[in-house]
Amino acid sequence: MRAVDIIQKKRDGISLSAEEINFFINGLQNGETADYQAAAWLMAVYFSGMDAAETAALTMALADSGEKIDLSAAGRKVVDKHSTGGVGDKTTLVLLPLVAAAGAATAKLSGRGLGHTGGTIDKLSCIPGFRTDLSREEFINQVAESGLAVMAQSPGLTPADGMLYALRDVTATVDSIPLIASSVMSKKIASGANAIVLDVKAGSGAFMKERENAVLLAKTMVAIGESLNRRTIALITAMDQPLGHTVGNHLEVIEAFETLKGQGPADLVELCLQLGAEMLLAAGVEREYEAAYVRLSQKLSDGSALEAMRQWIVRQGGDAGVVDEPQKLGVPHPARELLASTDGYILGLDAGMVGRASVLLGAGRSKKGDEIDLMAGIRLNKKTGDMVRKGDLLAEVYTGSGEAAAGALVYLADAYTYSTVPPLLTPLIYERVDRNSL
Ligand code: URA
Repeated sequence: MRAVDIIQKKRDGISLSAEEINFFINGLQNGETADYQAAAWLMAVYFSGMDAAETAALTMALADSGEKIDLSAAGRKVVDKHSTGGVGDKTTLVLLPLVAAAGAATAKLSGRGLGHTGGTIDKLSCIPGFRTDLSREEFINQVAESGLAVMAQSPGLTPADGMLYALRDVTATVDSIPLIASSVMSKKIASGANAIVLDVKAGSGAFMKERENAVLLAKTMVAIGESLNRRTIALITAMDQPLGHTVGNHLEVIEAFETLKGQGPADLVELCLQLGAEMLLAAGVEREYEAAYVRLSQKLSDGSALEAMRQWIVRQGGDAGVVDEPQKLGVPHPARELLASTDGYILGLDAGMVGRASVLLGAGRSKKGDEIDLMAGIRLNKKTGDMVRKGDLLAEVYTGSGEAAAGALVYLADAYTYSTVPPLLTPLIYERVDRNSL
């Protein structure tokens, strides 16, 4: 077998066998496939695509390229959740303790976000003492004992994905659906969950701007998961405006606590209940969607989801006092205000633009390895559909830098659009994709 023949086959639109894909990916790791060959192959995949069998084979080749976690010690089905990323997306912080309180076991390896705000690991690092550098044994034991653990993804997991992604980044081949789907799913497979619930976001603040592309990505990921015997369900959800009222790590942690206290914003609560219901079904904790949804609503209102959050924090070495005393999370930066420029209704609040404002404030990264300011962020007092009077408070930005605040306020002013009549509100959840949708 030769790498050049595999590149040529893909260039000519011919499907590759699992052996060929393994050969190519192994070669990338052991230096027999040169970077320039991998780059050419990526471009061939970009233009020729991959069928379901090839995408599954690539996923397995990437998953097999490094360490894999065996969660069978948990003694029950373990369900993972993944979001393709959005602005103000603090869902994981609410969802995991919520489903744990409802009896499901969840385990998640997470990265530091490259997006508009930090990732789950950044958010958790706001909590004093919280350890995300668990050893593999600690992670597995915690899932087995408490049904809930999150840790930072180690470089030993799917190393070939890291190599391929670095090449994609500099060869304009990131936005290829089979490459994205296999990259995401390889990490899910390597991290050991039996079932996977995906939140695939569509809109200006998402990786996939168009809904049709989000559906295609979801179907590709569901097909991969199912073909590798992992129950996989995806919800396609709106990311035209940020989720909830906060953007930025420390603010989002506080909003997650408020949500677990039953005082969360309607969109975040609804998304968590729907994703959570899918997780309970996938984990086999409930058989009927309605029953799962009701069970989760009760766990939110009776305080048990909040208690699961406290226990989770303590298990990972953090100070659970932050739940009731959020000031323990740190001293906020001064707030600067954005006021409504006219009377009317908010027609839209562009998530992509809010995301850019967040990066400017230092709450998110523009490139891998950037330092982020955990205390920087944005509070959105008005969102799409709200009625406003000229001079009403629309949003506040938090940063230590006057220059960053001024720039972010310009972005935010552009993000808000107005209408004289109440706008039609679009749904939060567009559709559900499972094995029957393929
Ligand atoms: N996230 C990933 O993990 N991989 C991709 O290719 C894109 C987004």
